[in-house]
Amino acid sequence: MTSSASSDASAAAMAATPSPSVRQVSLSTPFTDQKPGTSGLRKSSRQFEQPHYLESFVEAVFRVLPGVAGGTLILGGDGRYGNRRAIGVIARMAAAHGVARLITTTGGILSTPAASHLIRKHQAIAGIILSASHNPGGPEGDFGVKVNGANGGPAPESITDAIFAATTALDGYRIVDAETPSLDVPGVHALGDLRIEVIDGVDDYVTLLQGLFDFGAIGALLRGDFPIAFDAMHAVTGPYASRLLEGLLGAPAGTVRNGTPLEDFGGGHPDPNLTYAHELAELLLDGDAYRFGAACDGDGDRNMILGHRCFVNPSDSLAVLTANATLAPGYASGLAGVARSMPTSAAVDVVARDLNLPCYETPTGWKFFGNLLDAGRITLCGEESFGTGSDHIREKDGLWAVLFWLQILATRRCSVAEVMADHWSRFGRHYYSRHDYEAIASDRAHGLYDRLKGLLPSLVGTSFAGRSIATADDFSYTDPVDGSLTSGQGLRLLLDDGSRVVVRLSGTGTQGATLRLYLESYVAAGGNLDQDPQQALADLITAADQLAEIRSRTGMERPTVIT
Ligand code: G1P
Ligand code: ZN
Repeated sequence: MTSSASSDASAAAMAATPSPSVRQVSLSTPFTDQKPGTSGLRKSSRQFEQPHYLESFVEAVFRVLPGVAGGTLILGGDGRYGNRRAIGVIARMAAAHGVARLITTTGGILSTPAASHLIRKHQAIAGIILSASHNPGGPEGDFGVKVNGANGGPAPESITDAIFAATTALDGYRIVDAETPSLDVPGVHALGDLRIEVIDGVDDYVTLLQGLFDFGAIGALLRGDFPIAFDAMHAVTGPYASRLLEGLLGAPAGTVRNGTPLEDFGGGHPDPNLTYAHELAELLLDGDAYRFGAACDGDGDRNMILGHRCFVNPSDSLAVLTANATLAPGYASGLAGVARSMPTSAAVDVVARDLNLPCYETPTGWKFFGNLLDAGRITLCGEESFGTGSDHIREKDGLWAVLFWLQILATRRCSVAEVMADHWSRFGRHYYSRHDYEAIASDRAHGLYDRLKGLLPSLVGTSFAGRSIATADDFSYTDPVDGSLTSGQGLRLLLDDGSRVVVRLSGTGTQGATLRLYLESYVAAGGNLDQDPQQALADLITAADQLAEIRSRTGMERPTVIT
């Protein structure tokens, strides 16, 4: 019934709209800087506002993606400045390229995980997600375009490389001249032969999570004496978290903070870590009012989990979810396997060994989990950068992680700190930290990195922080599913006691270069499990600085962000 009613509506709309004409716009010089990074094309809003800049990238996407003519496309974003304009431009270009059906959302609000779900649900050929993730937004902030493939996950490098190559050779693009429909209310519209459906971006995602977790048990926890605080950071998760936590699960009004998406995220930096989500961190780590706290990033794929006086390191979070997975109805029958990105700590490896599960180590970036998930080799995966997810979609999923933790707490009826203490007493503890040096002059950062890379062969067998360097290499990965090789993924020093130091250059920054230093040291169960991570890692930190000459070469006395 519903489908005939909506197709009647669309037929009426199509009949009422004269077919707009396709315009070919020529470009005198192609752009040379549209190479997608770790997660899509990310640039300043100002760069995206240059004439034809967005159009150039989108044209390349439509030329490269298979199945565009006659296909279904999902489109939305995190609500940042530029979101609505981009939806209009992309809708008009989709019409010019023969896309049959475009599904977008009210207000253009669509989180990255919800987009991944919609792509899969509607068997779309792709999704375009307008977001620069956790980077600040607004006219002086950043904008981004992420392209996801038919499996719902970030497009693989073969596609992003082809898109980049297409941008550098582009002589023009196709677009229709027409008004684009209002995004203010759900409805069906037509743009020539293109059917545009504006749907609520929250509904389907909520239904998906209801199938994975026991909302009765979590609701009972949240309606009892278990106050929680969720910080949406004025970004995309506000409407999702309000519906889930305050609506369906009955948490008190006010549980969701900063819940209205704003074009500039209220001037904030929507990255859920102790630096940028410090208001929430202070509530949980210094105050006594809340038992659980969580925050998500700009586009809703990252999460930070806090307990009363307890910060959960994201690498540990993945390990805890793995160890407790069967408590959630959606994972009750067990896991196929797990994966983590290379810089993520090996906490999950220890749990996987205990559960006899395959465990994969992939390069940084969610796209590398895609094949493993599609092939059914893994169920859970995660990154140290506050990303955790499962095979329910093909993106990391912030609110999924929050509900998973609440499921564990609702079933085990204990505190976050107790979950962690229990976990370490069983599996030992991986002390872990990441030090970021942001906005370094690009030549200095590359100079430092290339020098360290050149030193690697001579380092094996030498002493480092009282240990010996067992392996020194530049990480490369052969995908076990399709055999593709990805190299140059980060410099690793593996020490003889299992400790590690990793150095990478960020692939998502928009200003200069960002150097990431990852530090990890394992203490087995029975050892000292209650140290401050910075202290537990102090000797590694000092030795890494001496070897890589970080302070002298960057001119920075300390990292800009420590997580
Ligand atoms: C960063 C994180 C990485 C994550 C990516 C996208 O990339 O380190 O784990 O997948 O953002 O959220 P980087 O800037 O390090 O290249
Ligand atoms: Zn994100």
